[in-house]
Amino acid sequence: MVLKLVGLAGSYNRPSKTFALVEHIASVAAERYGFDVRLHDLTDVGPSLGQAQRQGDLDEAAARVLTDVVEADFLIVGSPTYKGSYPGLFKHFIDLIDPEQLRAKPILITATGGGDRHALMVEHQLRPLFGFFMAHTLPTAVYASDRDFADYRVVSESLQQRIGFAVDELAAFFPVRELAAAE
Ligand SMILES: Cc1cc2nc3c(=O)[nH]c(=O)nc-3n(C[C@H](O)[C@H](O)[C@H](O)COP(=O)(O)O)c2cc1C
Repeated sequence: MVLKLVGLAGSYNRPSKTFALVEHIASVAAERYGFDVRLHDLTDVGPSLGQAQRQGDLDEAAARVLTDVVEADFLIVGSPTYKGSYPGLFKHFIDLIDPEQLRAKPILITATGGGDRHALMVEHQLRPLFGFFMAHTLPTAVYASDRDFADYRVVSESLQQRIGFAVDELAAFFPVRELAAAE
């Protein structure tokens, strides 16, 4: 059975460093574990998000992204850092997800920022956000700053090493999920 990995980049910029980071991590994970990968950004979600107060208010494109996210076996969630936290529009998308829809979901959390000053935003903002959902955020979170990229590609060796640690940690979820699927 091929497991589904979904990457969500909370940026609407194209090109986007956050999307590039999520895409890079997803390709490392897919090469290691043979996942079926789908990637989305907030531009895929589109303009209906801003007006939506509940999932039913989303248009088809946005609803498809949300369904992909909640039905994923594994998630990579990436956010740009805005004013020391995640962007409001990204939070609004997450706000539309029902609490039980991410329960026990393995999530690799990641963020980008202009510099290193807000590197702990993954620990102080993203981890508690997914803690609310009782999701399994992986122990290693990945933060990348401008100098880790060249032309929207991950080039830093230390970042790639950290990505390797995080991807290793996904393996812990295989036995449990395969048992659940067999029930
Ligand atoms: C409105 C705004 C606020 C930002 N605030 C921060 C910040 O507080 N700390 C930081 O390190 N970078 C900050 N940045 C820089 C972005 O986090 C950084 O360029 C990020 O990699 C952009 O991701 P993207 O290319 O995926 O859109 C900010 C950028 C914008 C546009």
